[in-house]
Amino acid sequence: MKDKNTFYITTPIYYPSDKLHIGHSYTTVAADAMARFKRLTGYDVMFLTGTDEHGQKIERVARENGVTPKEYVDGIVAGIKKLWKTLDISYDHFIRTTDPEHQKTVQKIFKKLYDQGDIYKSEYEGWYCTPCESFWTEVQLQDGKCPDCNREVELVKEESYFFRLSKYQDRLIKHIEEHEEFIQPPSRKNEMLNNFLRPGLEDLCVSRTSFKWGIPVTFDEDHVIYVWIDALSNYISALGYLSYNDEKFKKYWPADVHLVGKEIVRFHTIIWPAMLMALGEELPKQVFGHGWLILEGGKMSKSKGNVVDPLILEKRYGSDALRYFLLREVPFGSDGVFSNEALVNRINSDLANDLGNLLSRTVAMIDKYFDGIIPSQAVLEDVDKELIDLALATPKKVEELMDDLLFSNALAEIWKLIGRTNKYIDETMPWILAKSEEQKARLGTVLYNLAESLRFVSVLISPFMPVTPDKIRQQLGIEGLADLQSWDSLSQFGKIPSGTKVQRGNPIFPRLDINKELEELEKTLPTEGQKKDKQDKGKDSNKGKGKDSKKDTQEKAEITIDDFAKLDLRVARVIAAEKVENSDRLLKLQRKVGDETRQVVSGIAQHYTPEELIGKDLILVANLKPVKLRGNLSQGMILAASNGDGKLALITVDTEIEPGSTVS
Ligand code: ME8
Ligand code: MG
Repeated sequence: MKDKNTFYITTPIYYPSDKLHIGHSYTTVAADAMARFKRLTGYDVMFLTGTDEHGQKIERVARENGVTPKEYVDGIVAGIKKLWKTLDISYDHFIRTTDPEHQKTVQKIFKKLYDQGDIYKSEYEGWYCTPCESFWTEVQLQDGKCPDCNREVELVKEESYFFRLSKYQDRLIKHIEEHEEFIQPPSRKNEMLNNFLRPGLEDLCVSRTSFKWGIPVTFDEDHVIYVWIDALSNYISALGYLSYNDEKFKKYWPADVHLVGKEIVRFHTIIWPAMLMALGEELPKQVFGHGWLILEGGKMSKSKGNVVDPLILEKRYGSDALRYFLLREVPFGSDGVFSNEALVNRINSDLANDLGNLLSRTVAMIDKYFDGIIPSQAVLEDVDKELIDLALATPKKVEELMDDLLFSNALAEIWKLIGRTNKYIDETMPWILAKSEEQKARLGTVLYNLAESLRFVSVLISPFMPVTPDKIRQQLGIEGLADLQSWDSLSQFGKIPSGTKVQRGNPIFPRLDINKELEELEKTLPTEGQKKDKQDKGKDSNKGKGKDSKKDTQEKAEITIDDFAKLDLRVARVIAAEKVENSDRLLKLQRKVGDETRQVVSGIAQHYTPEELIGKDLILVANLKPVKLRGNLSQGMILAASNGDGKLALITVDTEIEPGSTVS
């Protein structure tokens, strides 16, 4: 039986396929804050993160790079660990699905489920999306394409093992209905019940024979265990489940919370609990599906100028500021937009102004009026009570909010105390008290209370911002006093020993010049030219390795269907065309949109005469921002193919269709 005093929290295990961006840091920082909070409040914590390293995609990318899959993932995993170190992520264990212990556990789980009839062999015929590594049934496809990424799928037929997911449908529904807290936030629970469980579950294909980079099925070596059984098992293999030493499993399982992005809630609340039911193990207490950090304009967008590389942001602002922003700005269940501007504004208002200034002013006043010695709390007045009561009430509020993973609200409570302390300075006006010798004891009390309130803040923020508390303590001169840093020490307001010597220091969060910062951040993004260089270099290194260079896949950075959907492509019938004056390259074309005419200027004069174009149906990017070319307004852009040797061909439609028809 699991000890009440333990707390087990996990992040998803990340695919080592991409550079990790600020969105991945978001989940991991949240899990870390929670883990630290639980440690602070007396729990024996197990915090697990790691990497999900198998699958066809990795196998293919490694081959393209001329290395083995293991060499490929090793390089990326090293980078991920470095990132977590930079962001002060205090994981207790980092699991890799290539760890031999994990692989053995997964093989045992598979064998056990097979032996008891929960896994059986059959034939799979279905649609497979290689980029997503997902199987889809005919009905799940959208217009014959992958419903997730909208790319082509292929029909595959192969001998496979299946997990009897359907058998667990009713038990799953019952469990979810009876355990309010199992799927959070509640909206995700209804989505699972209505969209997946109640319509009916199909058995799940859990092995593949078409690639090798996976954990082999021990009793049928042609098969590798297909991704979700491998990936989800990490949460228990990391605890030594089915190994010679399963002490940790006994101690920490069931997990208190699996933190996952909303798109993988389905796997964690259907497949995972069904697997555990089949194994006869307890289910996790909670799966929390958080929203996405939306990266405006794509991953690294020059046009929006947003830096989403956490290493660049950390270097400029430090890990604490970045962590604070991530946890404060976006309520944890919802989606939120990341922008450089929001980040810099938060740092200025909450960290530099509210917190940083409070510390600087407090220490400066103790220096000035008491030679740097923290006075005693001699003359208490009514106005002190409000501050002290709030300080004493805050820890409990924070704890309640943290138990619901409401990071942003918890920080807001702490900032209320900071705000109240700043207001206390305005109310007590220490600079007036300092004018009269009779008020000396009262002034001492006010300054003492300010210092003590900052001590409370240093403890309260420590799970969210692990570096700043020591900076505060150093300036207050209390960094060596461990019993002033515990959660329990917040049950008493007045613990700083009077007579402590403060240490004036630099502002802990210097104020930023917003315009300058936005400019500097923009400079850290690769320019269009650099992006191209990088891609070209990528091509060369592929050649060097003697691999068939993937010309067609390396040309431009991948985009999503959403990126593509931003284009408004239309059929445009040319109703008039003429040369642009003083240009031997440009033609002006007119087309009709309703009752109006719109003009497009196009650099095709060396390939087509105006006469040839009239009546042609061309393809136009209709929502391109209008520009003036040689003084002529151009609304849109005509699509043409060119081979780089000066040959050019206009794109047109292959049968008559009304002008204005959309192209997609
Ligand atoms: O899904 N904002 O791995 P993954 C917030 N290997 N969260 C984001 C995000 C963003 N912009 N981008 C990604 C996998 N994430 C599987 C998991 S678990 C047994 C296997 C989150 O690397 C995403 O929501 O694609 C997910 O929770 C996590 O990063 C890992 O994504
Ligand atoms: Mg994903």
